[in-house]
Amino acid sequence: MEAKLKKLLNQAKDELGQIKDSQIIADLKNKYLGRKGELASLLKDIKNVAAEERPVVGQIANEVKNELVNIFDKLENSINQGSSSELDFDPTLPGTRRELGHLHPNTLVQAEIEKAFAQMGFTVFDGPQLESDYYNFTALNIPADHPARDTQDTFWLDDGNLLRTQTSNIQVRMLEKYGAPFRGIFPGRVFRNESTDVSHDHTFYQLEGLLVDKGINIGNVIAVMKSLLSAVFQTEVTVRLRPGFFPFVEPGFELDIKCLVCEGAGCSVCKQSGWVELMPCGMVHPKVLENGNVNSSEYSGFAFGLGLTRLVMMKYKINDIRLLQSGDLRFLKQF
Ligand code: DAH
Repeated sequence: MEAKLKKLLNQAKDELGQIKDSQIIADLKNKYLGRKGELASLLKDIKNVAAEERPVVGQIANEVKNELVNIFDKLENSINQGSSSELDFDPTLPGTRRELGHLHPNTLVQAEIEKAFAQMGFTVFDGPQLESDYYNFTALNIPADHPARDTQDTFWLDDGNLLRTQTSNIQVRMLEKYGAPFRGIFPGRVFRNESTDVSHDHTFYQLEGLLVDKGINIGNVIAVMKSLLSAVFQTEVTVRLRPGFFPFVEPGFELDIKCLVCEGAGCSVCKQSGWVELMPCGMVHPKVLENGNVNSSEYSGFAFGLGLTRLVMMKYKINDIRLLQSGDLRFLKQF
């Protein structure tokens, strides 16, 4: 019996020597130490051992058992600590979350604005970024020698076309195509040939709006703008109109909102004035309506050119316009 017990121990040690797989270890543990395992079945024979030898055999049996338990414990521990790469995988651990991309702040604000306008019956249109001189300037009552062109220097192509300086380029295209009544917004990328600083970039975003119908007046502009801005800023905003000159509107205005940062008291965002210039707008010039084949004695309308990039900067308090196009993940991950 003694010899058999020791043989069992040695056999177990031999078998366990090379093992690295936790399933095999579990099986072997069962084989030797399980309720119906080899040790248990050997010990059933203890009744055949002479009575005076039983205490000694019983002690040896205990020692063998303890040693086996020890060996299995050590093996299990070493495997849990990952001594084998196959066993590094622990299906009970929570998964690692892969980093997903997300929408750019421009896109987020644009989507909000589109939703607010859709509720007011506006359709979203797109237009060419590579444009002709006619739609970008001439059709908008800015002839070739007009000084208003000087404020919008752009990138010219050799063939006389240009990168559009304003989303207003879509106004006459839309009127030609759809006529009156018309209600649409045109968000998009525009370009200016200028040196960059914290508030100027060669590429930025505008969101143009055009509404043409019978009996439209400036009160309609104010109403539409107030409900839009309340939707974007999630709060009631106060607006004011100042006269502003743009050749394609008459009269033209600058729409300002009361600064949301200081609520009109004066701060660095509003340059201590209490107001932030947000959106030029006005009643569509009769010449522009006529260029779009719309009868200007029958129809009137309003147009506005929301500085989408500026709105994004206001909303998220971004102090350098160039960050928006930098592709810098440290910046982008904050939204
Ligand atoms: N397109 C003008 C610009 O980029 C902004 C503008 C002014 C748009 C008045 C309009 C408007 O629709 O009515 O400076």
